[in-house]
Amino acid sequence: MAITVKGPIVEMDGDEMTRIIWNMIKDKLLAPHLRMDLRYYDLGIKHRDETDDRITIEAANAVIKHGVGVKCATITPNAARVKEYGLKQAWKSPNGTIRSILDGTVFRKPIIVKNIPPAVRSWKKPISIGRHAYGDIYRSVEYKVPAAGKAELVFTPASGKGGVSLLVHEFKGPGVIMGMHNTEKSIQSFARACINYSLGEKCDLWFGAKDTISKTYHAFFKEVFDREAEARKKDFAQAGVAYRYMLIDDAVAQIMKAEGGMLWACMNYDGDVMSDMVASGFGSLGLMTSVLVSPEGKYVYEAAHGTVMRHYYEHVKGNPTSTNSVASIFAWTGAIARRGELDRTPEVVAFAKNLEAVVVNIIERGVMTKDLAAIAEPKPAKYALTGEFIDAVAEML
Ligand SMILES: NC(=O)c1ccc[n+]([C@@H]2O[C@H](COP(=O)([O-])OP(=O)(O)OC[C@H]3O[C@@H](n4cnc5c(N)ncnc54)[C@H](O)[C@@H]3O)[C@@H](O)[C@H]2O)c1
Repeated sequence: MAITVKGPIVEMDGDEMTRIIWNMIKDKLLAPHLRMDLRYYDLGIKHRDETDDRITIEAANAVIKHGVGVKCATITPNAARVKEYGLKQAWKSPNGTIRSILDGTVFRKPIIVKNIPPAVRSWKKPISIGRHAYGDIYRSVEYKVPAAGKAELVFTPASGKGGVSLLVHEFKGPGVIMGMHNTEKSIQSFARACINYSLGEKCDLWFGAKDTISKTYHAFFKEVFDREAEARKKDFAQAGVAYRYMLIDDAVAQIMKAEGGMLWACMNYDGDVMSDMVASGFGSLGLMTSVLVSPEGKYVYEAAHGTVMRHYYEHVKGNPTSTNSVASIFAWTGAIARRGELDRTPEVVAFAKNLEAVVVNIIERGVMTKDLAAIAEPKPAKYALTGEFIDAVAEML
């Protein structure tokens, strides 16, 4: 008998190969077992173009209303895509739009399977990374200094009173300068989203910065994090997890020796660099999940990878593909489990956890797609095609 998922889930459909996988997951793994109240938004590139991208905004607002969403990978159009799909314009990244409407933070977490050993021997549990996605060098102003001269940092208050001017450097010859910023509101939202994630996942929260050198900029991040964590001290104690601040170099050194199992909150640049280090250390993009969490505790689950365009072109030609559906399956199970927790329906949470266990079990038995077969130990005799893998999961489920 099908299990009823009480509350609504906002479903955001997407593009190319991940759209094909999306349907297979729904048809073969979810529909036979669950009765879901899905609020469907087609974020496929054609529909975004037809609606002048209003559909993306509507989907984000639906997540704010209902609390839980699941998103398929989507094309962020560049000039080539505008031509390929005959678009009115190069619409913005849907993920960027949704993230800014939710004021959310993206957390990435790898899926661990025994026969895909991490590159780092000590890593036994997933390391989640939370990247602050606003400001710093990504919103900076840069200038190539052509010759000798004085660079200053000037702040003019809106009130017109006071104001400061600080000497950056007295150049004797050519050089380069950069001005960057962040806002208290954004840092606070980031800290809150990290704290919500850490309490929800019951994992320790690490935050690293370089406040010994940057005694104002980085120190401000530390101050906001310390303050927000202090305000949730009781919740941390109740969840049995801890908040730790470390210098960023110490955090990097400790990550390499740790077992994992923590959330590592990173400033924008650190997160950009470290998330790729951690992702490749755990094996494959096809095993990396991603969730957007707002400071108010709204969640959008997705796979960390894109639309797997190259496989889609093969698929369209009628050629067989071996695309990894694991991260997309886990996007669904993440959303379903979250819904079950909000609705207090343990049978829904149990279904999601069981589906995850089945997927891991199947890979550990040697059934996997080509991307994993290349890095598995031992290597399987053959790899599974896209549909074969999902069929194997459906059968075992
Ligand atoms: N979150 C998102 O919606 C998101 C994220 C990244 C890229 N994109 C979009 O996806 C499209 C393709 O981008 P891309 O090629 O840079 O990124 P991609 O993640 O689709 O592919 C990157 C590489 O990893 C491989 N790969 C990724 N996922 C895989 C999987 N599940 N199974 C097997 N191999 C996998 C691909 O074959 C490719 O070699 C672009 O239009 C881009 O805008 C969307």
